[in-house]
This record gives sequence, structure tokens and C-alpha cells, in this order.
Amino acid sequence: MIRVNNDVYLNGQWLPVGEAKVSVEDRSCMFGDAVYEVLRYYDGKPFAPKLHVERMRHSLDAVSIPLPEEFERLPQISDELVRRNAMPHCKAYWQISRGVAPREHEAPAGLKPTVLVMTYEVPPLNVDAPAPRKRAILTPDLRWLRCDIKAVTLLANVIAKTHALRAGAQEAILHRDGVVTEGSATTVFIVRGGVLMTHPLSPLILGGITRATLLELARKHNIPAQERPFTVDQLLTADEVFISGTTTHVGAVTEIDRRTVGEGDVGPVTARLNRLLIEHILATVTQG
Ligand code: PDD
Repeated sequence: MIRVNNDVYLNGQWLPVGEAKVSVEDRSCMFGDAVYEVLRYYDGKPFAPKLHVERMRHSLDAVSIPLPEEFERLPQISDELVRRNAMPHCKAYWQISRGVAPREHEAPAGLKPTVLVMTYEVPPLNVDAPAPRKRAILTPDLRWLRCDIKAVTLLANVIAKTHALRAGAQEAILHRDGVVTEGSATTVFIVRGGVLMTHPLSPLILGGITRATLLELARKHNIPAQERPFTVDQLLTADEVFISGTTTHVGAVTEIDRRTVGEGDVGPVTARLNRLLIEHILATVTQG
């Protein structure tokens, strides 16, 4: 939960969260006409801020929201907020909406985008912790066809994740036409016969920054990896399944719809990639 005395950054101002107000006519409120990023801070240092800036630029370009004047400074604004809130271990949330205008569907030109940055405290990374075990459910992917845009319009993701939690699971794995796309807020990987597989980059998934990092680490450490679609059946009969994300890191999926995955424990490839990811993150943030 956010602490009430925390500051947020809103349109050039530092304000206590309770005093930061956005108009009811902000297009994020009416239409979800906004994009966002979530990045993780470790001991006050962000992981891969440039990649988050680039992905946000992609999202903004895709929906024709002009870059706000502080766009290039978002990492510095975010660092400053982490310092102000004395929150070295946190996730930072960046949101840019199209701006404020009377409610009409068409996007008016010339609006001033609304820029919001917030931080949420998270536990410090436990370097020696094994990948946590997660239960998942399978559910149809009800989202639109531009999931590569990190839009705040997340109703289908919210429904999927809520179903998962009500079923005693921690994540919903989404499928479209028999193919697994991703999790409600994570990337999904499987391992079959020692080969790592994840959905290729396409408008059907978010290009996860943890996904890209894991694929790079797999290549560097000679773990065979393929970016290609896999079916629900291949998921259910995989040797290992895991999810990844900025706040999740690597989570071993040991149960799907109450059926055991593989040996029902954290598999060897999952364990190895979890370790490689944590080592890589800590080395990268320490180097600055
Ligand atoms: N979610 N897929 C979806 C649909 C996501 O929402 C996310 C991240 C990911 C993983 O991306 P990354 O590795 O860049 O975090 C994949 C964020 C954390 C969120 O919405 O809170």
C-alpha cells in the first residue's frame, strides 16, 4: 500500500499523494487513453531505465500521444522521487495520458499530456532465494490485438488476475486460438527437452524487459532458446513452466488449473535462469 505521506510527481510538481489531483476529464479517466511503465529499484538504483524509456516511446508513438517536454528526464524524475520518498527498494510507476478535454471519442490534437510518477515500496531482493513457486490458471486471452502497447486500459488483465486469485492461484496464463500468449502481467516461458520457449514478439504480447534479459542470458550461457508460439497442450505437458516480469523476476509455475507441471517443483532451467537474472540485475545496477 502507498504511504499517505509519500510524494508523487504530477505535471512538474512534487505533491503528497493525497493532494495530487487529476481532472475527471483527463482522458485516462474517461477512456484509459494513457500508457505506462513499471520499473524496479534495487537499493536506490533502477534496472534498465533506458529500456523502459524506449518501450514507453514505442507505446506513445503507437497511440499518437506526443512526447511531453519532460519525457527524456523521466529516469531522473523517477530517481529523485525514490530519494524524496526514501524508498530504495521500490517499483516506480510512470504514466502519461493524452491530457484533459471534454469527453469525445476522437483524440483532440494539441493537448498537454498528463505526466504522473509514483513509487511503491517492495521488499529488498533476496539474493539467495530460490525462484518462488506459483500456481496458475488458464483463461482465454480477452485482450485487444495491440498488447505490445503498454496501455493502462487493463480491464481484461484485471479480470484474468482476479479469477486467478479467487481460484487460489497467483497468475492467469492467457491463450488465444489454442496458443499461449503470456500471463495477465507476466511473460510465460516453457522448457521442453532442455529447450526454452516463449511467444515471439508480436502485437499479441508485451515485449517484456525481463523476457529480453532472460533470452539474452540464455544465449550467453548456451541454454537453447526459441521465440516461437506454443500450444496449451505443450504448456500442460512441459517439463518446466515459469513466468517473468519486472516485479516477479522468475516465478516457477508448478501447478496449472490444479494439475502438476513437470515434477511439481522448481525445475533446473528455471532455477538456473533465476540465479542468472538476479546476478545480472545486481551487477548491472551496481555498475550504474
Ligand atoms: N507488467 N506481460 C504483461 C501483460 C505485463 O503487464 C508485464 C509487466 C509483462 C512483463 O514485462 P516486464 O518484464 O517488462 O516487466 C509481460 C507490469 C509489471 C505491471 O503491469 O505491473
